[in-house]
Amino acid sequence: MKISTLADSSDQQCYEKKAPENALVIFGASGDLTQRKLLGSLYELFVRKLLPGGFFVIGCGRTELSDDGFRAKARQLLGDRKADQDDVNRFCDRLHYISGQYDDTRFYDTLREKLSQFDQKYSMHGSHIFYLAVPPQLFGTIIDGLGQAGLTCGEKEAHLCRSRLVIEKPFGHDLDSARQLNDKLHEHFNEAQIYRIDHYLGKETVQNILMFRFANSIFEPIWNRNYIDHVQVTIAESLGVEHRAGYYDKTGALRDMFQNHLLQILALVGMEPPVSFSADPIRDEKVKLLGAVRPFNADNIDKLLLRGQYGPGKLNGKNLAGYRDEQAVAENSNTETFVAAKLFIDNWRWHGVPFYVRTGKRLPRKLTEVAITFKKVPYSLFATAGIENLPANVLVFQIQPDEKISLSFQAKSPGSKLCIKTLDMDFDYEEVFQQTAPEAYQRLLLDCMIGDQTLFNRQDDVELAWKLVTPILEHWHSSNDTPFVYPACQGNLKPVDDFISQDGRSWRSL
Ligand SMILES: NC(=O)c1ccc[n+]([C@@H]2O[C@H](COP(=O)([O-])OP(=O)(O)OC[C@H]3O[C@@H](n4cnc5c(N)ncnc54)[C@H](OP(=O)(O)O)[C@@H]3O)[C@@H](O)[C@H]2O)c1
Repeated sequence: MKISTLADSSDQQCYEKKAPENALVIFGASGDLTQRKLLGSLYELFVRKLLPGGFFVIGCGRTELSDDGFRAKARQLLGDRKADQDDVNRFCDRLHYISGQYDDTRFYDTLREKLSQFDQKYSMHGSHIFYLAVPPQLFGTIIDGLGQAGLTCGEKEAHLCRSRLVIEKPFGHDLDSARQLNDKLHEHFNEAQIYRIDHYLGKETVQNILMFRFANSIFEPIWNRNYIDHVQVTIAESLGVEHRAGYYDKTGALRDMFQNHLLQILALVGMEPPVSFSADPIRDEKVKLLGAVRPFNADNIDKLLLRGQYGPGKLNGKNLAGYRDEQAVAENSNTETFVAAKLFIDNWRWHGVPFYVRTGKRLPRKLTEVAITFKKVPYSLFATAGIENLPANVLVFQIQPDEKISLSFQAKSPGSKLCIKTLDMDFDYEEVFQQTAPEAYQRLLLDCMIGDQTLFNRQDDVELAWKLVTPILEHWHSSNDTPFVYPACQGNLKPVDDFISQDGRSWRSL
């Protein structure tokens, strides 16, 4: 069953903001994130005329590159997307590059001079956005460099300063380091200038969780422990650690996925209605929700969490290496590549409703979804006809690989026999809107230029998430237990199934 396509635009209510004047300075412009995500997203915004007139980019890095060299890289990338040549030329004209060392004050002098030169050239009177697309150990050096060069302003002068800072996860590796990072950021930037990206929050279906909950009156009355049996959040990948093995071995699934993406999604599903659809009211409710998650401690961690590590396996007849055999992974590594957890939210809405979350690499397929399983009907009217066990309704927000929402329900199959079948009412983003969902970075870059922090992490929610996770990290570190080993890319993992079946429930299939 399908959701019908919008017949015309009369039943569509839209609100699109255009960015005021901004220039973007990207540190790490030669890197993976800039090349794979940022340049393409900026180009799409440029083509859709959502960037301000005087917009320009300054890419920075140690790599020696001229403006033309940087543009050539962008052209190559956009060429692969079969972009219009005139648009590409006009976009590339706005790209500039400077090279240097981030701990050298001369680098920031050059940057300051270039910024003032280009502000004049492009008649720009807007703010400068500093995007740190570099490994996190460089954040402090760059922030100090910007501060010392007078390109930022500290807490006290924040109202005078319109510059912004964008950083990518990881925001620390435990609670202490997250606090240290926040202290460092606040030496030169006010919280209102800091944009911490969790790119999952820029995905359309993740945002649709809010629209679905708060723009429809039929779900909110049943969005609680009276009607919902349990919630499952899954972020599964079929890939292994690939080129990130060195980073991943020091990180693991708990830090890489659970602390940020999984908890952020959980907060959107579970939070109370905010007083308005704006940054702080929404972030306040997320923080309240995270604050209500039952803490993990040495007594409950082994019951509420399960960690695994992929071993060798096969996919489409091809042998796959086990985690410990991956390049740059220690041969006795106990880093988890899989985590399942059961969380409880201790408030009136959710008391007693388990939230099961799981994430892992080398699972049978790529899938990110939130599934809300409602309680079964209290009594089957059809028991006399032999149909006693009626499945529960399930509402699913699928975020990857395709963006979809579906609701399952029971209906009679045609014919003289009494047969009840589970059907799905589906909303497929691409089919209904006749376009693929835009890359999350487009939305996030635009929001940053506009100055809308709704989809960005705030200091307190980052620290609360680390507060939840740090006892688990410490417990695992001090424990003699090792992660269970699962064959790469195979389903039906017994410890994982047992983890949920002991509660009389089962995982949705992968
Ligand atoms: N890639 C992704 O999809 C992704 C996803 C989520 C989060 N992130 C985060 O985004 C940030 C950037 O990621 P990335 O994958 O683009 O990183 P990357 O490719 O490893 O590094 C980006 C650039 O930083 C510079 N760099 C690297 N190591 C350096 C060092 N020790 N000293 C000075 N410069 C160094 C390099 O440029 P130069 O040598 O030219 O200076 C490099 O091109 C990181 O914080 C990462 O955790 C990335």
